[in-house]
Amino acid sequence: MAADDNDNIAGKVVVITGASSGLGEATARDLSARGATVVLGARRLDRLKTLVGELTAGGGKALALETDVTDRAQVQRLVDAAAQNGGRVDVMINNAGLMQQSLLERQKIDEWDNMIDVNIKGVLYGIAAALPYMKAQKSGHFINVSSVAGHKIRAGGSVYSATKHAVRVISEGLRQEVKPYNIRTTIISPGAVDTELPDHITDPDAGTLIRKLYADVAVPADSFVRAIVYAISQPEDVDINEILYRPTRQEF
Ligand SMILES: NC(=O)c1ccc[n+]([C@@H]2O[C@H](COP(=O)([O-])OP(=O)(O)OC[C@H]3O[C@@H](n4cnc5c(N)ncnc54)[C@H](OP(=O)(O)O)[C@@H]3O)[C@@H](O)[C@H]2O)c1
Repeated sequence: MAADDNDNIAGKVVVITGASSGLGEATARDLSARGATVVLGARRLDRLKTLVGELTAGGGKALALETDVTDRAQVQRLVDAAAQNGGRVDVMINNAGLMQQSLLERQKIDEWDNMIDVNIKGVLYGIAAALPYMKAQKSGHFINVSSVAGHKIRAGGSVYSATKHAVRVISEGLRQEVKPYNIRTTIISPGAVDTELPDHITDPDAGTLIRKLYADVAVPADSFVRAIVYAISQPEDVDINEILYRPTRQEF
């Protein structure tokens, strides 16, 4: 997307978790092209390094740190690196997430644990790490990634849905609590978007259903990027609290 002088994005320091693929990677590319400094975390450091190489070769400012969001110290290190290198933390995008659908009776308890750790605790650790910087600055913006599954529950999606409902609950509590500090909070809840997300489903039945849904209706990641840009580019006195969108062809 083309950079816009009036988009309130150039010069901002933006931390993105889960930036090694999908929505996080697409967001990093776009915000970098718009002049933001992007600080990127994920576990696959090789992919992050390649991305940073491309962004900096194009004149962007970008930094990557290997970050497992289930490890609070690693999330803190990522946010501290943003503050040290960029001088501030303007936007914290808690995007890292994991979707592993299955019926509860299949007892995939390790997968439940993983989703709870990444999708809920990872978001909380991101909030914990960035909030003190934003409080001190008296400005900042949290963008937490939920899902249509944060609004709707379907068989096979109970735990993923629960984690994405939790993201919305935490974000709304955060929204109310940070009013004194001039901090904005946005929840983005996408429907099916073409990324690696369904690749992590191990249950064959759920995998078949979800992969068919994505093959039939998923839209490209730039749909998400436009939502991010819309939220950040509002004037500082406008706080876009929630965006829910689906592919036009997606029913549920
Ligand atoms: N695509 C959709 O249809 C859709 C719809 C609704 C909501 N969402 C949400 O959008 C977010 C991004 O997902 P995506 O669609 O872009 O899927 P994706 O391509 O699978 O990306 C997920 C990202 O999360 C990272 N991640 C996973 N576990 C992590 C951990 N423990 N620590 C740090 N990073 C971790 C992955 O990086 P590493 O593996 O390198 O760590 C990857 O960069 C997720 O929160 C997802 O729930 C997606």
